Amino acid sequence: MNDKLVNNPQPVTEPPGKTALFISLNIKKTAEAEALVKSFCTDFPALIRSMTIRDPERHFRGILGFGSDAWDRLFKSPKPAKLHTFKEIKGQTYTAPSTPADLLFHIRADRMDHCFEFARQIMVKIGAAVTYQDETFAFRSFDGRSMIGFIDGTENPTGNDAVDFAIVGDEDPQFKGGSYVLIQRYVHDLDAWNKLPVEQQELAIGRKKFDDLELSEQEKPSNAHNVLTNIKDDKGNDLKILRDNLPYGSPAEGVYGTYFIGYAKDPAVTERMLSNMFIGVPVGNHDRLLDFSTALTGALFFVPSYALLGELAGK
Ligand code: HEM
Repeated sequence: MNDKLVNNPQPVTEPPGKTALFISLNIKKTAEAEALVKSFCTDFPALIRSMTIRDPERHFRGILGFGSDAWDRLFKSPKPAKLHTFKEIKGQTYTAPSTPADLLFHIRADRMDHCFEFARQIMVKIGAAVTYQDETFAFRSFDGRSMIGFIDGTENPTGNDAVDFAIVGDEDPQFKGGSYVLIQRYVHDLDAWNKLPVEQQELAIGRKKFDDLELSEQEKPSNAHNVLTNIKDDKGNDLKILRDNLPYGSPAEGVYGTYFIGYAKDPAVTERMLSNMFIGVPVGNHDRLLDFSTALTGALFFVPSYALLGELAGK
């Protein structure tokens, strides 16, 4: 067993379900509200177990993360070493906004009714203590296609690699088994994207649209999405994150979006990818995908292991 699993991480590295509900909330600034949310940390694993038992075949999984301000208010110190408020990234043309929140729920299952019921149970427990910030119902589309029609998630690490890239280890021993999660909700100009010839779309992503084959290094332009997000450390080793993006939208309102969610043991990796996308490499050479995609939200959270979650309630 990977040593990082000893503290029983939340199900960050387990395979995605077919639907997801993403909820961002803020905690009211009263002592009662903070106490209620803290005591909820003990309830949360039991709520998950109950949902899982009720229909084990639906791969129900719920994940709870805390923003930096919420951590300071609820648990004070010690604090996860890399937890901070996500800072806006302003490129010459596009900006990744910062819209911090106190709590993130990433609820996944094969059926939306399971996600919905779990969200309802959460709100029964803590509804009096929180205010609404964002709620997105997202779905798996056909063979894992993103809203822009390309397969999303191919280069994700799997198995032991997923644990290595996404879960905190001995570099921050008190928070071992945790994970940093960065979210951004995007909307796409799908009309403009769909008017782009498929060959141009493929150059924007760096892969073939129909069969997901990767373009050769010679074919990929320097502003392709998979060029700017493919990063290495100073020894030449790959730096990866674990993504679980899903499409969402409202055709009747003309909203077509992607909910980006990336887990990492170090949020600097995700932020470097974002900097490459928005500021560009070299500066000004931004990700071509951004000409068709606008980030509306952006926030960072820490997802404690189950072991730590239990201790936090008593702090
Ligand atoms: C507009 C929202 C986004 C869409 C629709 C999107 C879609 C895609 C697609 C289709 C791929 C190729 C298949 C794959 O390897 O998964 C990909 C790759 C990737 N994306 Fe995104 N993405 C989005 C935002 C982001 C953001 C914000 C980040 C990082 C902060 C990111 C990081 C990555 C990484 C690391 C890869 C793999 C690159 C490689 O090593 O080949 N993506 N994305």
